[in-house]
Amino acid sequence: MKTQVCIIGGGPSGLLLSQLLDLKGIRNVVLEKHSRDYVLARIRAGVLEHGFAELMREAQCGERMDREGEIHHGFFISHDGQMDRIDLHKYSGGQSVVVYGQTELTRDLYEARDRAKGQVVHDAQDVQPHDLATDAPWVSYRKGDEVIRIDCDFVIGADGFHGVSRKSIPADVLREYEKVYPFGWLGVLSRTKPVSPELIYARHERGFALCSMRSQVLSRYYIQVPLTDTVEAWSDELFWAELQRRLPAEVAGRLQTGPSIEKSIAPLRSFVAEPMRWGRLFLAGDAAHIVPPTGARGLNTAASDIHYLYHAMVDHYLKNDSTGLDQYSAKALARVWKAQRFSWWMTTMLHTFPQNSGYDVALQRTELDYLLSSDRAKGVLAENYVGLPF
Ligand code: FAD
Ligand code: DHB
Repeated sequence: MKTQVCIIGGGPSGLLLSQLLDLKGIRNVVLEKHSRDYVLARIRAGVLEHGFAELMREAQCGERMDREGEIHHGFFISHDGQMDRIDLHKYSGGQSVVVYGQTELTRDLYEARDRAKGQVVHDAQDVQPHDLATDAPWVSYRKGDEVIRIDCDFVIGADGFHGVSRKSIPADVLREYEKVYPFGWLGVLSRTKPVSPELIYARHERGFALCSMRSQVLSRYYIQVPLTDTVEAWSDELFWAELQRRLPAEVAGRLQTGPSIEKSIAPLRSFVAEPMRWGRLFLAGDAAHIVPPTGARGLNTAASDIHYLYHAMVDHYLKNDSTGLDQYSAKALARVWKAQRFSWWMTTMLHTFPQNSGYDVALQRTELDYLLSSDRAKGVLAENYVGLPF
């Protein structure tokens, strides 16, 4: 088989790029290791930047997002039994975010690829890129007993943190930066009315908590837990009781509880791989970088990679200009590191760190106190949360 762009990974990054390229007449194939049902069963991000929402519209995939997603102009930070609102609209110069789940967004992208008769291969086993440092790269994969070869111009590594693409970059070229946090987030999805019309990021000495949502009838809550905890150890009753303890009494009092329909623990990690291009391989999304989820940057940073890559590919194929491809790694990484900084800052300010000294805790309190007392500090938070310009 021959194509122009072979995309490894059928998560949001790979599917969005596939759809955008296809609309410009650039042929591509997506190779996804898992089934569609498996990919759509993962409950992940929920907050989209304005720029990401625009990219979904450009990909002709924004219709349901615009109909069912909610525009949020602010969120709350709770601490010491009180709530403070961050007015995103005011402090970002009129911008907002869209609350729309990654699962629904991925479903919309799959449906768009189906309508366009795009090639998305599911259950592609043993995917392996080859000859990436040459002008004739190719990718092999296995389907049952058959091994299939795809010749292409470029390979996109959009296969997440555990994928094969990043591992194809030679060790003497690849630089990896990592910070692992000593806790994870236990997340619960429940068919209940969200406790608040806007998200609540809760700082509490028992640990961080987040009240989020997918719609007015579907809530998503998280609590910080030690890495040693297991999902099995957290019954629904224990989860709701712990969440209530970490919220101001007035909020806890109106929390609607119900059976969990999904429950999982995600460890918190910061990670960046450089460079994001090697030969004919381009990394995008979680394949190249991970952030702790505080501040909702993960999926949004994946989208900014796709924005740069899409425009670079269009310039290459339609204008015979490869400057964008040559600058991709540096351009994407500049924004990636800013998302790293923001996510690290939000995580550090709002979580309870087991090893922190009294001094560390006092400084952490001062950070929050300063933020809530300074319009300029709120401006910095807001401009990062709604998304820095591409
Ligand atoms: P992925 O979504 O990981 O997609 C990669 C795809 O590649 C997957 O479908 C995978 O099956 C496939 N793949 C892997 N290996 C191979 C292979 N060898 N061959 C072929 N295909 C392969 N972000 C937020 O902003 N907010 C959140 O609340 C949030 N929660 C998260 C919770 C968890 C548990 C995780 C893991 C991430 C979370 N994120 C969150 C981050 C966000 O979901 C990611 O940034 C986003 O999914 C990145 O999209 P992606 O397409 O780059 O990678
Ligand atoms: C969600 C996750 C986040 O990490 C975040 O900062 C906001 C919302 C969510 O899953 O809804």
